[in-house]
Amino acid sequence: MEEKIIEIKNVNKGYRLGDDVVSVLKEINFTVKKGEFVAILGPSGSGKTTLMNIIGCMDVLDSGEYYLNGRAIHDTKESEMTQVRNQEIGFIFQNYQLIPTYNVMQNIIMPLLIRGMGHREAKKQCTEIVKLLGIAHRLDHRPNELSGGQKQRVSIARALASEPAILLADEPTGALDSASGQEVLKLFGNLNQLGNTIVMITHDLKVARAAKRIVRIVDGRLSEYEATRELL
Ligand SMILES: Nc1ncnc2c1ncn2[C@@H]1O[C@H](COP(=O)(O)OP(=O)(O)O)[C@@H](O)[C@H]1O
Ligand SMILES: [Mg+2]
Repeated sequence: MEEKIIEIKNVNKGYRLGDDVVSVLKEINFTVKKGEFVAILGPSGSGKTTLMNIIGCMDVLDSGEYYLNGRAIHDTKESEMTQVRNQEIGFIFQNYQLIPTYNVMQNIIMPLLIRGMGHREAKKQCTEIVKLLGIAHRLDHRPNELSGGQKQRVSIARALASEPAILLADEPTGALDSASGQEVLKLFGNLNQLGNTIVMITHDLKVARAAKRIVRIVDGRLSEYEATRELL
């Protein structure tokens, strides 16, 4: 049996607005197996970021079940969530979220040092990853000395360094020109080939097509994407 990394069952999530609750995610069912590369495709306001926050253990669900790498997140105390998040999720954001005063090496190893890894081991891990990502010659540069595509590679390296169960990317090519965006998507393909499980969120079908499977979210409801419908 294939191992499930993400299993989301009948999840609902809303936001309180005064006395009302606005329902955003509605009865979401979503499973990701180890080694998959899945895109979540949906228009603005459809609930992508809300779903990403739940998958990434940054927000709690209102009802339903969420299992991440075998752990029942819906039953996990909020005080333990940070640790779960650091262990299981490698985040990649549209705007990279690099620390501007740190060089590339420092940005990549910082999360490892926070987790208690020794400096020498963290550097060794970083050196191997940057070779894979083609940024080994940029280790002592600061983010503002890098192109957008290089910055995104650094943020991917930082995510990979912690050896997370999944890479979770929110519009990873959203700030890039189309050539650099294509390179980042190709890199995701390579990382997936190497066994990494990837969940990528996007509003752009061309971007979503880089994934091996696409699910659609519309008005907070998730469904498998039927490629044939686009041809009609
Ligand atoms: N913190 C919040 N409080 C109230 N409403 C919110 C909040 N965050 C998002 N929403 C609403 O939830 C819906 C989905 O938002 P979001 O998950 O950000 O969608 P997407 O990322 O697909 O654009 C939108 O209608 C948005 O206005
Ligand atoms: Mg969003």
